[in-house]
Amino acid sequence: MIHFRPKPTFKADATLYFLAEQQNPKDIRLPPDIRREIINLIRKGQFTAKDKQLFPLFVKGKLILLAGIGKSTDLTPTALRIITRQALLSGFLSKAKSLEIIPCSQNGTDLRAIIEGVLIGTYTWNKYKKSESGETVLPRHKTIYLIALNPKTFKDILTVCDGVTLARDLVNDNADTITADYFEETVRNLISKQKGVSLKILNKKELKAEGLNLHLAVNRGSEREPKLIIVRYDRGPENEKYTALIGKGITFDSGGINLKSSQHIETMRCDMSGAAALIGVLKNVLALNMKRNLLFVMAMAENAIDAKSYKPGDIIKSYSGKTVEIANTDAEGRLILADAIAYTVKNYKPTQIIDLATLTGACIIALGYDYSGLVTNNEILAEGLLKAAAVTDDRVWQLPNYPEIREAVKSDVADIRNLGYPKSAAGTLTAAEFLRQFTEKTPWAHLDIAGTAFIEQRQHSYYSFGATGAGVRLITEYLRQK
Ligand code: BES
Ligand code: ZN
Ligand code: ZN
Repeated sequence: MIHFRPKPTFKADATLYFLAEQQNPKDIRLPPDIRREIINLIRKGQFTAKDKQLFPLFVKGKLILLAGIGKSTDLTPTALRIITRQALLSGFLSKAKSLEIIPCSQNGTDLRAIIEGVLIGTYTWNKYKKSESGETVLPRHKTIYLIALNPKTFKDILTVCDGVTLARDLVNDNADTITADYFEETVRNLISKQKGVSLKILNKKELKAEGLNLHLAVNRGSEREPKLIIVRYDRGPENEKYTALIGKGITFDSGGINLKSSQHIETMRCDMSGAAALIGVLKNVLALNMKRNLLFVMAMAENAIDAKSYKPGDIIKSYSGKTVEIANTDAEGRLILADAIAYTVKNYKPTQIIDLATLTGACIIALGYDYSGLVTNNEILAEGLLKAAAVTDDRVWQLPNYPEIREAVKSDVADIRNLGYPKSAAGTLTAAEFLRQFTEKTPWAHLDIAGTAFIEQRQHSYYSFGATGAGVRLITEYLRQK
């Protein structure tokens, strides 16, 4: 838990102090005994404050952990999150029950980075791991006092981080636990007793009656109920039309009959990260009581392999009326999203649509793990998202949408094909183009979070293995700005 304090007291078990390389000693505003020790260390060259250097200092039995941030002109918000995470996870602070953090400045960007370095950087998934014995106090169990002169501005960041944590918990748990039914339950719990929020669920029966045949096809090999979960959040002015958020919620993506191979299948419980991010955003929007009219649409299914599974070569009539050639059953995300987008456009006529989806492996090849891919038909929408990305460090990189790409999803036997041509060229763009053709020219932005939603390494940037909650901070911030 983080509390704010205007001044350090040095009464906590430990103090974390950030120091820049070649910092003017005059700017080290600490009690004289501590200050003297630090200046000595620097003089002797024992501590240079190079990027990521940690140095424990004991003054009168109190631990002061110095964290080097390198040259302050080179410090990026991401680097500050990484340094904060490392300091908190380091052995030096493992026993501290309480910790005071003195930030490197009172600048809003730095304070946000430190808060998120703590709350997002030290998140660990250990529901199924026996707790290690010993006196280690996990970062989330520490009482943390952050020195901030203007705490009001930062309280909301704590709230938003809770939404990120919820999304991560959903993604990290087993695919057979976090089913479409579980999503429905979670949404029901979030919105119970809340004013101006209502829920509509399309189960298999309703999906059939309404003709969301792509959605049904994707789920055909599964024993579980497919679901379109629609939350209407009506706390904005009466005349404000909906902003629709649509999330890919494949609870497990085996690839279907185009079965995934090992190396690619093990983490596929992450394929509902788009829908999970929307749950995080919904939690935030409720907690912040945003005065907006919003739609949260979660397209839930399981892409399982079975005799009943849909087949490569099938042609299926979508909700929009367009027929789709199934060239590959592993390109299932664009199918359920196409029906979800068409259903949302037809029934709610939103002014803008943002979809979040772990859509293509190609996006990981193009952008890696640090940037979500953005494809849009509306530059104003893109600008807003890029601005929110810069504020939150939930990063986004825009990829092109151009007329010639339309050719790539043409089919000889149906209106459109769920695979690009040639097969793997610009896979992120052809998947986005497929979605675009179901938007009916509604301003739309597609976020491909295949690389950013789930970290497969032990550690990357300020994340450990597992879900990151990509998109939660971004969309929450976007909604506040617009
Ligand atoms: N869920 C995957 C994309 C993915 C890959 C997400 C890696 C997270 C990490 C998606 O459904 C998929 O399988 N896409 C295929 C599309 C191809 C068959 C055109 C892909 O990217 O290989
Ligand atoms: Zn797939
Ligand atoms: Zn998928």
